[in-house]
Amino acid sequence: MSDHETIIVERDGRVGVITLNRPKALNALNTTVMTEVVGAATEFDKDPGIGAIVITGSERAFAAGADIKEMSSKTYSDVISEQFFGAWDDLSRLRTPVVAAVTGYALGGGCELAMICDILIAGDNAVFGQPEINLGVIPGIGGSQRLTRAVGKAKAMDMILTGRNMKVDEADKLGLVSRVVPAEDCLTTAKEVAATIASKSFIAASLAKDAVNRAFESALAEGIRAERALFYSTFATDDQTEGMAAFVEKRDPTFTHS
Ligand code: CAA
Repeated sequence: MSDHETIIVERDGRVGVITLNRPKALNALNTTVMTEVVGAATEFDKDPGIGAIVITGSERAFAAGADIKEMSSKTYSDVISEQFFGAWDDLSRLRTPVVAAVTGYALGGGCELAMICDILIAGDNAVFGQPEINLGVIPGIGGSQRLTRAVGKAKAMDMILTGRNMKVDEADKLGLVSRVVPAEDCLTTAKEVAATIASKSFIAASLAKDAVNRAFESALAEGIRAERALFYSTFATDDQTEGMAAFVEKRDPTFTHS
């Protein structure tokens, strides 16, 4: 299925797997990577045979950030007219749950890409950081917002203003990651988590994702109102009928994602 320059795209049952594949550049996120990752994820999102997506890198680097060599000659006029990095926003709008499998460096745009994902499975060698300050810039793919929401102002300011890296133990303690596993098990675990999600009702999973994301975008009362409306809408689905009938009849449900 893969016809890409910088990524490998595979299917594993109902799970779509996107592997960043620029090993010589530690998976630095250039424009081609952005276009290919977002394109492949969008294709998976439209595919009724896919219920979850995994995004991963290599053992040494999930991604060492936006491609500094590509960026270094850009002017203000270039970045504003290109709306540089803008396509990454499409990834946060997918209905399909996305699991990041992060081993090695997740720096700058790499950390930001991992944080766009809904679940973050980290290998025990993962290193997170927003070192943009060392380059005379600031995070540009949501890092200042998502990191702050994930770990709070004190730690986000510490990381973004000093540019220091954070090892996985600290990231786990702060709630930046969902689970920590041995690095060699990271992708397998992420695929298992994704397969579990993909075995559920897709409609319920995507509404649940939407509901959780509302917590970051709205006041509590508004978020609760939205959750209630989304909850009510699940009663319009066959999967609600089937899921509850299966429980009552003491059998496994067969979801049809309708
Ligand atoms: N962009 C372009 N190339 C990169 C890169 C990046 N972000 N990160 C690493 N590379 C390249 C290196 O230039 C090197 O290429 P060459 O062999 O051609 O010289 C290759 O990958 C291997 O890297 P190193 O030799 O540096 O490997 P190392 O093990 O000594 O160090 C590292 C690893 C600490 C991750 C180091 O590469 C590094 O600091 N990278 C940059 C990290 C960074 O600053 N990221 C933020 C980018 S800005 C950003 O992301 C903005 C935003 O908000 C989106």
